[in-house]
Amino acid sequence: MFLNNLRLFNFKNHAEVNLAFNSSVVCIVGRNGSGKTNVLDAIYYLSLTKSAFNSFDAQNIKHEESGFFLRGNFTVREKPKEVECQMQLAGKKTLREDGQDYTRFSEHIGKYPVVLIAPQDIELIWDGAELRRRFVDAILSQVDRAYLENLIAYTRQLKQRNSLLKNFSDGGQVDTILLSSYDVKLVETGEYIFNARKKFCEELVTRVQQHYSYLAATEAEQAGISYKSDLTSSFSALLKNTLQRDIALQRTTTGIHRDDFVFMLNQYELRREGSQGQQKSFLIALKLAEFETIYARLNLKPILLLDDIFDKLDDLRIQRLISKVAEGSFGQLFITDARPDRTQSILSQAGIRTQVFTLENGNFTCTWLEI
Ligand SMILES: Nc1ncnc2c1ncn2[C@@H]1O[C@H](COP(=O)(O)OP(=O)(O)O)[C@@H](O)[C@H]1O
Ligand SMILES: [Mg+2]
Repeated sequence: MFLNNLRLFNFKNHAEVNLAFNSSVVCIVGRNGSGKTNVLDAIYYLSLTKSAFNSFDAQNIKHEESGFFLRGNFTVREKPKEVECQMQLAGKKTLREDGQDYTRFSEHIGKYPVVLIAPQDIELIWDGAELRRRFVDAILSQVDRAYLENLIAYTRQLKQRNSLLKNFSDGGQVDTILLSSYDVKLVETGEYIFNARKKFCEELVTRVQQHYSYLAATEAEQAGISYKSDLTSSFSALLKNTLQRDIALQRTTTGIHRDDFVFMLNQYELRREGSQGQQKSFLIALKLAEFETIYARLNLKPILLLDDIFDKLDDLRIQRLISKVAEGSFGQLFITDARPDRTQSILSQAGIRTQVFTLENGNFTCTWLEI
């Protein structure tokens, strides 16, 4: 997959930007705060219909403006494709492919896969389970349409079940027949999600381990992911067992909405025992594994967005990552860096043809790296 042209209008700090990409390696350089990450976020947005960083859509509109517009012209499986997204403060958000509005945004997910590696990824290790579930859900939703449908349904059913539990406690009457009819649906979607997550985790672990060993240049450390779920026994029996507690607490206390994916290094929790360097390598290995999983399932190489990652890695790891790029393992790659000389010397030493956009005072200048 290839992004040929990108247009941003009133998106975050960018008033109007039109960029033409003619290379599979694109580097965006400029001072801190100049808007490099925002360009990557625009690409992410066109793929996943949301920002990677702001969950409030209105915050992506340039200050004092009433809406933003994004357009990407892609080549996907050798066909030209145009994706446009418009968000108005006053109106609703629209998403269009080749001039046709989508009625459901979920239909778009997975058609234009991207993988983003950003400094914020460290939160995946440090934060609670919800973030890790979202990470896994985002990948599975891109590669498995049925997964996304089941996830949307499960979320809706869970909300309905919880409000029913709340009604019971408000009204005092417990309608177990109605509740069981809710449970039947929840069990069906929940079990689909559990099985998909379990299979995916097994697939991911092998790949994470390979990339981790490569980046860390050692076979001695074993990277792993342990999938923790309530659903190791029958979901419907679990719901029956927790019924009294659920009624008392007015919410569903068992299910795949409580799953976690624990990152491990040598049988220990990465969060507790991993050094900073080990954690960074793990995250990059995880994202490269994400890239491969999407590629394997969709037979389409995702666009890889590398945001400020050179800051976080030592020279050996950077060199190993770049040699993967030079091998052509990836499709199109966007790299941002606040220190242009460093990135450019690494890329030119590796002999990689690179288009460089220098961002200064809101203006982009395009040059080619000498190799
Ligand atoms: N909605 C918005 N309107 C205007 N400016 C914004 C908006 N959201 C973020 N910014 C600005 O974008 C800048 C950060 O851009 P970013 O892409 O993170 O910079 P870089 O990656 O180059 O360091 C900040 O100066 C921030 O104030
Ligand atoms: Mg940035």
